[in-house]
Amino acid sequence: MATFSDCSTIISLDNINPRILKCDYSIRGEIVTLAQSLEKELQAKPGSQPFDEVLYCHIGNPQYLGQQPITFFRQVLALCDYPAILDKRETQVLFSADAIERASKIIDQIPGKTTGIYSDAQGIKGLRDTIAAGIEARDGFPADPNDVFLIDGATAGVQIMMQFLIRSEKDGILCPIPQYPIYSASIALHGGSLVPYYLDEAKGWGLEVSELKKQLDYAKSKGIAVRALVAINPGNPTGQVLAKDKQCEIVEFCKQEGLVLLADEVYQDNVYVPEKKFHSFKKISRSIGYGEKDIPLVSFQSVSKGYYGECGKRGGYMEVTGFGADVREQLYRVFCANCCANIPGQILASLVMSPPKVGDESYESYCAERDGILSSLARRAKALEYAFNSLEGITCNKAEGAMYLFPSIQLPQKAVKAAEAANAAPDVFYCRRLVSATGIVVSSGSGFGQVPGTWHFRCTILPQEDKIPAIISRLKEFHTSFMDEFRD
Ligand SMILES: Cc1ncc(COP(=O)(O)O)c(C=O)c1O
Repeated sequence: MATFSDCSTIISLDNINPRILKCDYSIRGEIVTLAQSLEKELQAKPGSQPFDEVLYCHIGNPQYLGQQPITFFRQVLALCDYPAILDKRETQVLFSADAIERASKIIDQIPGKTTGIYSDAQGIKGLRDTIAAGIEARDGFPADPNDVFLIDGATAGVQIMMQFLIRSEKDGILCPIPQYPIYSASIALHGGSLVPYYLDEAKGWGLEVSELKKQLDYAKSKGIAVRALVAINPGNPTGQVLAKDKQCEIVEFCKQEGLVLLADEVYQDNVYVPEKKFHSFKKISRSIGYGEKDIPLVSFQSVSKGYYGECGKRGGYMEVTGFGADVREQLYRVFCANCCANIPGQILASLVMSPPKVGDESYESYCAERDGILSSLARRAKALEYAFNSLEGITCNKAEGAMYLFPSIQLPQKAVKAAEAANAAPDVFYCRRLVSATGIVVSSGSGFGQVPGTWHFRCTILPQEDKIPAIISRLKEFHTSFMDEFRD
């Protein structure tokens, strides 16, 4: 019989894929582990902590923090999963007429008429038709269902694109810093090089093409072939919404430098300021005259974000344009090797891109649910931004969109020394202390990348609105006592 030591020679840290060890996804790391152990202690012994609940504000997981799913979407999903009740009398009472009608239409589009199938690797054709029509309605430019690839969430799409583009560590991907760590993690996993471009915090996390050019030239001088540029709009963790002229400059830059534009547009429905609007990069490229053949562009959308927040359903799509037929065929082969995206996630992606319309029975209640969530998120973003900015040593840009604030924190030297002694980066040290004192879980800036010598943390705006005042007073109380303890 094999012993433990036998096993450890068969599989050990020395002989697993070394890229795994380079793949850092610390936003799910030590602060969360600490929070979970505090939560366990609290459950086992109520009153044992200086707080009565742990609040997970470290990732954009809206329903975990109480956001309600959109009724129409869930009704259609339920009926698609259990079509046997479509013709029952009770169904007419419990479900809206348009949900019944949509579910019937979708079931007819699924080969085999059940969500239990493997679909075509690219996704169910009828759903891709609906998504393409939704993209066309959003952008005012044609969209082709054959360009739509359904995915198990944007994460799956990003992984596939990195696998597709990266041949060796000599291939580079330009990524914003701070960035959403799926990019650094997937680039590391596929053995490429992350080429950073820094967003300018002093200009509301602005993006300058001169910075892109500088970093591209530097990477080239080191022998890196830069293949693609990642633009996250609205930004995570930074919350900025790109202005149209900046987007035009990015498109022109990609065109001039021969880069694939990887447009992460998963927060397209999360914009909170009237002076900014979401514009897809495809719309921008088409509106400045670039057609299908001019620029390779991949746009990622997800069911996890927006006002839908259906992270657990693992759905989304990527719209792939500007790839030649031969390359597209190879991409299709990669999708075949991945089998297919899960069917409920595919259905939800089609619903998100084609919600109820004026005149549909659900239209009014759908609008009320959507607008209720979005206006509340906007208020929460403002309240938290205001609170952070009122704290000593903290400055925080506005969340124009997405689901996060990313305040910068100036830590006293004494705190930096204490962090060193605790073997932690200063921002990690601050986040550890924050969770231990308040139960509020945030992610340290180190996991996203930051200008060396600056410290940040990311906090979601997702806790329910009635909890925000208590969260703010917990934050204030903690921060004041932290600064009192460490002030130089
Ligand atoms: C910018 C960005 N892209 C992609 C994702 C991945 O989302 P999902 O895989 O749930 O679609 C996230 C999740 O937070 C994100 O913030």
